[in-house]
Amino acid sequence: MPTLFDPVEMGALKLPNRILMAPLTRGRATREAVPTAIMAEYYAQRAAAGLIISEATGISREGLGWPYAPGLWSEDQVEGWKPVVAAVHEAGGRIVAQLWHMGRLVNPGVSGMQPVSASATTGPGLDHTYDGKQPSVEARAASVEDIARILGDYATAARNAIAAGFDGVQLHGANGYLIDQFLRDGTNLRDDEYGGPIANRLRFLREVVEAVIAEAEVARTGIRLSPNGAVQGCDDSDGHALFTAAAAELERLGVPWIELREPGPQSSFRATEEPPVSPAMRTVYSGRIVLNSDFDAARGQAKLDEGACDAISFGRPFLANPDLVERIRLGAKFNAPDVPTLYSQGSEGYTDYPTLLVRA
Ligand SMILES: Cc1cc2nc3c(=O)[nH]c(=O)nc-3n(C[C@H](O)[C@H](O)[C@H](O)COP(=O)(O)O)c2cc1C
Repeated sequence: MPTLFDPVEMGALKLPNRILMAPLTRGRATREAVPTAIMAEYYAQRAAAGLIISEATGISREGLGWPYAPGLWSEDQVEGWKPVVAAVHEAGGRIVAQLWHMGRLVNPGVSGMQPVSASATTGPGLDHTYDGKQPSVEARAASVEDIARILGDYATAARNAIAAGFDGVQLHGANGYLIDQFLRDGTNLRDDEYGGPIANRLRFLREVVEAVIAEAEVARTGIRLSPNGAVQGCDDSDGHALFTAAAAELERLGVPWIELREPGPQSSFRATEEPPVSPAMRTVYSGRIVLNSDFDAARGQAKLDEGACDAISFGRPFLANPDLVERIRLGAKFNAPDVPTLYSQGSEGYTDYPTLLVRA
């Protein structure tokens, strides 16, 4: 069985190790969602990861509700990403862009418009805005014309990601955002060809994948899903059947890797009692499976030993440990992240975490 330090191929991506950086929103872009210079420094510091999955990146103003998160719909954003991606490449790393439409979780205070979702539902709580947290607003149900436009937005963002130099893209299909809102029957109440039976609820996912692979090529396209348990008020009556079918669909489409955020009951990030779906997904899907949530090196290696996955993605450990790969190699202690600066602007708690070795 491979170790965390063995190389792995995921489609066209050749990773030197199996320690991936999970997507982490940090809010260091401008209000126009343009990446900034400190983002280049931050990502380059973490270039030893087998693969960096970027922070969630909006495909459109409509789809981006997080203050100071980056986007990939404008020329300025593409230009802003270029030095970030180049810095990662110069440091020897690889980076894919996580493409994000937040659906009903976009607050009009950020986007200036009513949110759109599979159906007219409301997020469960408070949304992040430039004026602090505000109550979620009821979304309008996407018309078929809206869906066609959103598919176009995904395609444009994928094209822009490649133009900016990214090694590929990851569709954000997890965590109760738009793709998840279409997948799950708690938020998809439609009675047209996008709603009802699982086969119909998979349609939006399939069409997004098709739109994106037409621009980014399938060998450079992965997806993130969060199959077990409700997340941000988004739930399904049979997540096991739904996500097993999703994995079979991704197999048919030839998507080379799926990253799964699969917490357990003891997880410190959105814990759930619902058992993992990844074992069933692995029986119908022959691509690479990346597992996430609450891993340290030993637990991650144990999953590789079991044959349960092909790589592990680490989220919070990468926040405070730019040299996480080296720390795992040496069995060194991890720095703890500074919570107040997770989403603050500026370099504090962002690019100033200590490494084991002082850089020359
Ligand atoms: C500060 C922070 C930002 C996050 N941003 C994203 C994101 O942009 N996209 C995403 O899919 N998940 C995001 N997550 C979830 C992480 O990718 C990961 O699933 C979670 O931290 C659990 O993994 P861990 O135990 O290795 O930290 C975020 C988590 C944290 C703590």
